[in-house]
Amino acid sequence: MLVTGKTSVYGIIGDPVEHSLSPVIQNSAFEKLGMDCVYVPFRVATSALGVAVRGLRSQGVIGFNVTVPHKTEIIKYLDKLDLIAKNVGAINTVKIAQNKLVGYNTDTTGVVEALKTNGISPGDNTFTILGAGGAAKAIAYALIESTPRLTVLNRTFEKARGLKRNLMRRSGKEIKIDSLTKRNLERELLKTDVLINATSIGMKGNLGKIPIEDNLPQDLVVFDIVYDRCDTELVRQAKRSGCRTIRGTEMLLYQAAAAFELWTGVKAPVDTMRDSLVSFEFSR
Ligand code: ATR
Repeated sequence: MLVTGKTSVYGIIGDPVEHSLSPVIQNSAFEKLGMDCVYVPFRVATSALGVAVRGLRSQGVIGFNVTVPHKTEIIKYLDKLDLIAKNVGAINTVKIAQNKLVGYNTDTTGVVEALKTNGISPGDNTFTILGAGGAAKAIAYALIESTPRLTVLNRTFEKARGLKRNLMRRSGKEIKIDSLTKRNLERELLKTDVLINATSIGMKGNLGKIPIEDNLPQDLVVFDIVYDRCDTELVRQAKRSGCRTIRGTEMLLYQAAAAFELWTGVKAPVDTMRDSLVSFEFSR
């Protein structure tokens, strides 16, 4: 890839950001389509978020992704939110056009596409989501309209209550919440087709463990949105139990494809993006 004075710049802000696979995915797409664009990581501390966002705007960056811990905090620096992002209350994609910053949430598309690609229709399955942070909010919002049953379990019950309040106000649909304990999770799994881990357990630096039995029901599908070079502990455990599993790279891929299309107006080369992820993971 040749970067020149005319190259358009895209990027991702987060802290940490070194682990992000988004530069690999997005640059593979630009290269495949012969676009004169580059996607770079920017490590931005929370205390510098406002200055960084102003800098991205003034330097003519066209679009950027937003990751932990800025997904909610960044909202106050944006000019406008798309309706889905507003309803979710968290954003992961910003487009800058005519000097205006518009926030979007493509995690919602990401989770639905990842499920569909793996043969799971949200309308025909019941879901239990673990977590009530930014990622969990987007997933719950994406599923609530179609699924017949949605449960959210979170370590901090108050946060699950906040998620429920917001979601019911937006959709009018019922959602069950509880605290994340082994007993509650076991009880929910009896009524769950697909379990989605949207906590940060399994990420580097998080030593927490999901309170779950060693043997999971064999007909359960386990989707861990946390991605790592190898399978997370939850995915390994699910495989040992004979469950079908979906890795976090699937959601990463489809949220990236949706962001690419928002920025460029061009159909994302998803197969190329997927191949780049796989070969990068193997090369490390
Ligand atoms: P993200 O934007 O990636 O969703 P977040 O908003 O910080 O990140 O949310 C992290 C989620 O992981 C929260 O639901 C958090 O639970 P709390 O609300 O109780 O903090 C959950 N989480 C993180 N570490 C955990 C652990 N060790 N055990 C249980 N839940 C954990």
